[in-house]
Amino acid sequence: MAESAGAAAETFAPPAAFAAAARVKNRKEYDELYRAAAANPAEFWAELARRELHWLQPFTQAREWNYPFVKWFLGGKINASDNCLDRHLTGPRKNKAAIIWEGENFEQRILTYQDLYRRVAKFANVLKAQGYKAGDRAIIYMPMVPEAAVAMLACARIGVIHSVVFAGFSAEALKTRIDDLGATLVITADAAQRRGREIPLKRNVDAALAECPAVRKCIVYRHKNAGIEMKPERDAWWEDLMFGASEVCPPEPLDSEHPLYVLYTSGTTGKPKGVVHATAGYLLETLMTMQWVFDIREDDTYWCTADIGWVTGHSYIVYGPLAAGATTLMYEGAPDWPEPDRFWRLIEKYRVNVFYTSPTAIRSFIRQGDKWPKRRDLSSLRLLGSVGEPINPAAWRWYNQVIGQNRCPIVDTWWQTETGAIMISPMPGAVAAKPGSATLPLPGIIPDVVDLKGEPVAAGQQGYLIIRQPWPAMFRTLYNDAERYRENYWAKVPNVYFTGDAARRDADGYYWVLGRVDDVINVSGHRLSTMEVESALVRHAAVAEAAAVGRPHDLKGQALVVFTVCKGGVPKSPELVEELRAWVGQEIGGFARPDEIRLVDALPKTRSGKIMRRLLRELVTADKVSGDTTTLEDYSVLLELAKTKGDEE
Ligand code: PRX
Repeated sequence: MAESAGAAAETFAPPAAFAAAARVKNRKEYDELYRAAAANPAEFWAELARRELHWLQPFTQAREWNYPFVKWFLGGKINASDNCLDRHLTGPRKNKAAIIWEGENFEQRILTYQDLYRRVAKFANVLKAQGYKAGDRAIIYMPMVPEAAVAMLACARIGVIHSVVFAGFSAEALKTRIDDLGATLVITADAAQRRGREIPLKRNVDAALAECPAVRKCIVYRHKNAGIEMKPERDAWWEDLMFGASEVCPPEPLDSEHPLYVLYTSGTTGKPKGVVHATAGYLLETLMTMQWVFDIREDDTYWCTADIGWVTGHSYIVYGPLAAGATTLMYEGAPDWPEPDRFWRLIEKYRVNVFYTSPTAIRSFIRQGDKWPKRRDLSSLRLLGSVGEPINPAAWRWYNQVIGQNRCPIVDTWWQTETGAIMISPMPGAVAAKPGSATLPLPGIIPDVVDLKGEPVAAGQQGYLIIRQPWPAMFRTLYNDAERYRENYWAKVPNVYFTGDAARRDADGYYWVLGRVDDVINVSGHRLSTMEVESALVRHAAVAEAAAVGRPHDLKGQALVVFTVCKGGVPKSPELVEELRAWVGQEIGGFARPDEIRLVDALPKTRSGKIMRRLLRELVTADKVSGDTTTLEDYSVLLELAKTKGDEE
């Protein structure tokens, strides 16, 4: 990417037909909107909040900025579920499809806004009947089924704070999150499906709950008829509780700042961070970005391929699209099941207009070959999106030509779990794209590229990506850890939000996000903490020490390589390598399994005993070390490491 990362890179103007019909039609309109917002961000957002959201009580103050803590739309009462459902029921959207679901075995369900509303109201009454109320915390550990959205919205309806845990996480990871959150309710399903196999979710929940006595209730949605055990008193079937529940449940008027959800994400330590999002601001920006970035239309079929367990699923499968009154497609299954054209088949079948996926997925489609998309009719598509990691220009061009057929703008959207909504992305009718660049910030977002003192670096120079002003969808804190919030995000560079990403801004003001600068590795668009993987490994009886680093990977963006030192007397063997990989899968989740484990005798350390990850990174990237090794305690360790090649998958 680096060679094309600049003002001279090839540009793609918005297609004229797209621009003519878009909300924001040209660069001048974007510039004016951006300038107006930047002149007074608080008032800009307040005006949108008044216009775009349904308030149960109007707010009286736009923003309170008490560095580094922000509150938006103070004095207001609002409900996210009311904004996503009730307000669509009085007009022509009432019988419109809210969620179209397809299962891996081609099962289909369509829930209209009225259907979804009734289910959410009923399930909210179920939760109330079980004694849950505003402020309580619920874990949602579900497959990609509409009931996951029902559970989220039902919690939101009565003010229960939800935390969705990606169904690929292990029992151990689930337990850590239940504990940290002090959750008293778990909502799950018997099993999920992936590549023709059933994945037992309830069994993981049982293992986790054996050590979580605070959880009073576990509600189980029957998805697969998997034989599972139900613990009397604690466990109940979703369908039994729903039977006879009332369909009337007025939305609870909640404070604008009431936490809507907590989502755990990897940080630079072994402990995941509970990112807290507040109701009104989050809702406003997920909704605005549906308009600005996806230019969502009343008759669109919109499809975001993320899992509901990650922030992309929260913002762009559930809250954003439903707040916008859109039709959102949900698919439970693998992209290559039963054949590599499944995604294209779904686009053809449902006449999908807006398609939002990840660079890793795009690269795997390229690898499978053009014949798969070519045998399907993709003419319904009008806009394509990318998220989760930098998209390499070659993948961008393929996406544009083969999927978009040179007709669809591509929005490369940069954002994070913490930002809640898209921050940097072209407005597709207004801003020309450059493959590999997320282009320009959205209105009300004021980023910069700076050095550690906070001084902007020159155009074309690499620096730290920061945001200067708080924005409504910004996370409010880390759950029960305000100090870590301050230290991680607001102290590295004085007075600004530190994203943890490196970036360059070219002479046209375009942003090129280069990747993480901390000990976070982005594997297939999933954030993994090196420390989390290392702590999982040292919990294994054979392991003394471990150091995890990322290595560039054609498909996944980055691959995870772990240098592992075993305890004295433990023989190195390929079997041990496999056992350790499986162990990480069991401790964190299958997606975190290292691509490579290298068993070594020692790790390179500074004189003060710090592992020199920089050297290890160089070693796995270039296979040799050229950087500064003057603080290295024992240079011979490095020479030995360079000789050790792990067993690659
Ligand atoms: O490094 C950036 C990368 O993903 C990180 C955020 O990960 P997560 O919180 O899991 O959220 C992913 C989905 C929003 C960022 O710090 N990232 C995300 N989108 C892009 C990106 N890097 C480059 N270009 C993007 N479009």
